[in-house]
Amino acid sequence: MGGLQYSSATVLLFLALGLATALDNGLARTPPMGWMSWTAFYCEIDCVKHPTGCINEQLYKDMTDRLAEDGYLEAGYHSVHIDDCWSEMERDSNGVLVANKTRFPSGMKALAKYMHDKGINFGIYEDYGTKTCGGYPGSYQHLKTDAETFAAWDVDYLKLDGCNINLDLMPIGYPEMGRELNKTGRPIIYSCSWPAYLVDQPQKVDYNLIGKWCNTWRNFDDINSSWKSIQSIINYYDHNQDKHIPTHGPGKWHDPDMLVIGNPGITVDMSLAQMTIWCIWAAPLIMSNDLRIIGKEFRDILLNKEAIRINQDRMGIMGRLVANTTDIGLYVKPLSSESPEVSLSFAIAILNRNLSTPKSVQFHLKHLGLTNQFGYRVREIWSGKDYGRKMPHDEVEIRVNPTSAALFRADPLAGNEPRFEKKPEMPWWWL
Ligand SMILES: *[C@@H]1O[C@H](CO)[C@@H](O)[C@H](O)[C@H]1NC(C)=O
Ligand SMILES: *[C@@H]1O[C@H](CO)[C@@H](O)[C@H](O)[C@H]1NC(C)=O
Ligand SMILES: *[C@@H]1O[C@H](CO)[C@@H](O)[C@H](O)[C@H]1NC(C)=O
Ligand SMILES: *[C@@H]1O[C@H](CO)[C@@H](O)[C@H](O)[C@H]1NC(C)=O
Ligand SMILES: *[C@@H]1O[C@H](CO)[C@@H](O)[C@H](O)[C@H]1NC(C)=O
Repeated sequence: MGGLQYSSATVLLFLALGLATALDNGLARTPPMGWMSWTAFYCEIDCVKHPTGCINEQLYKDMTDRLAEDGYLEAGYHSVHIDDCWSEMERDSNGVLVANKTRFPSGMKALAKYMHDKGINFGIYEDYGTKTCGGYPGSYQHLKTDAETFAAWDVDYLKLDGCNINLDLMPIGYPEMGRELNKTGRPIIYSCSWPAYLVDQPQKVDYNLIGKWCNTWRNFDDINSSWKSIQSIINYYDHNQDKHIPTHGPGKWHDPDMLVIGNPGITVDMSLAQMTIWCIWAAPLIMSNDLRIIGKEFRDILLNKEAIRINQDRMGIMGRLVANTTDIGLYVKPLSSESPEVSLSFAIAILNRNLSTPKSVQFHLKHLGLTNQFGYRVREIWSGKDYGRKMPHDEVEIRVNPTSAALFRADPLAGNEPRFEKKPEMPWWWL
C-alpha cells in the first residue's frame, strides 16, 4: 500500500533529546494535569441564564469537588484553572486586578484556599497584551503588579495569553513576566501562549528560548469539541515534530491544548484517539468538559492508569510519528523501564484517521526500533489485551476503529544485549 513514509534515522533521533535547558524553577517535571474552563464554558458570564455554566466561583468549586471526589485527583489531575473573563473591567485605584465581585464574591484568595484544602492547585489566566482576548484588562505595563497579585492570591499556575500585543514585544514581555513571577518567591508554573501567535511566522519561533522561560506553551490554534479540530492539531504536530521533539521534556512542554473528552460532538472513539495521542506526546492533560455530568465511558478513558503512566513517564519524551499512510499514523515513544540495563520500554500508538472504515494494521517491533533480543511483553491499553511475549521479528496485529486509536505498551524481557547499536534493518512497507 503506497503513501508510506519512514525514515531509518528515526529511531536514532530518540536519543537526541534534552539538550536545551528548561526553565529553572523545578516545576512541571511531568506534563501538567488538571481541568480548565475555556473549551467547555468559554466566556459565558450570564449567570442568570446559565446558573451552572458561567464563569463564577461556583463553577470552579464544583470542578474542584469533582476532581477530589471522582478519582481524578488520585489519577493525577491536580489543578483547576480559571480561563479568561474572570476580572472586572477596570483595575482598582492602585492598578491591581480585581475579580468580578458578582461572580467571585469571596475573592480569589478564598477560592485558592478552597482548592488547596482539597489538595488541588489553583491556576489563573491573564494576557500579556493591553487587554485579554475577551477584552478584560491585560498585563501590559502591569507585569510586576500582576505577578505580585497572583502570588498574594496563592496562585500555582499562570496561563499568559498573547492577544492585543505587538508580536515583536513577545520575546521581551514573556521573559519579563517570568522574572517577575520568580521574584515573588512563590513557585508558579508558567504557561506561555507566545508561539501560538507566531503560527504564520515560524522563523520567529525559538523553542529553546521559549523553554528557557516557560514551563509549557501553546503553539497552535485553540482546540474545540470537534474531530476536525483534533485532527488539525495532530496534523500540525506531526509536521513539526522535528522541531518539537528535541525541545520537549521535564519542565518544558509543548501544549497541544485541552482534552475535549466528554463533550458533545466527541465520540468514545475520538476520545480514545485524543487521549492516545496526547499520552504518546507526553502532552499536558488538561481537561475542559463538564465533570458534573460526564458519562462513565468518557471518565474511564480520562482515568485510565496505564495511559496516564505513559503520559507521565519521567523521561518526558515526546513520541514520534514513524510511519504514515493515507489513513494510519503510527507513533513510538521511548519510556523508562524497570530494567534499563536491558532495554527501554516503549509506547506505540496507532491512529486511524479514516472517517468511516475500521483498519487492520500489522507491524513488526524491530521495524519500530524495538530490537531487544529477548523480546517484549506487549499489551494494548484500551482493550486490556495481553499479547504475551513478542520477539522483534514477530508480527503484531490490531484492528482500529475509524477516528480512533490503539495504544500499546511494550516492556523488555530479561537479557543484556545493548540496544540502539543497529539501525532498524528495513522500513516496513507492508503496514
Ligand atoms: C461582573 O459580571 C457581571 C455578569 O455576571 C456583569 O454584568 C458585570 O458587568 C461585571 N462587573 C464588572 C465590574 O465588570
Ligand atoms: C527563581 O530562579 C532561580 C534561578 O533560576 C531558581 O533557582 C529558583 O528556584 C526560582 N524561584 C522560583 C520561586 O521560581
Ligand atoms: C473548530 O476548529 C476547526 C479546526 O480549526 C474549525 O475549522 C472550526 O471552524 C472550529 N469550530 C468552531 C465552532 O469554532
Ligand atoms: C500523513 O498522511 C496524511 C494522509 O495522506 C497527510 O494528510 C499528512 O499530511 C501526513 N503527515 C505527515 C507528517 O506527513
Ligand atoms: C476510508 O477508507 C475507505 C475504505 O478503504 C476509503 O474508500 C476512503 O477513501 C477512506 N478515507 C476517508 C477520508 O474516509
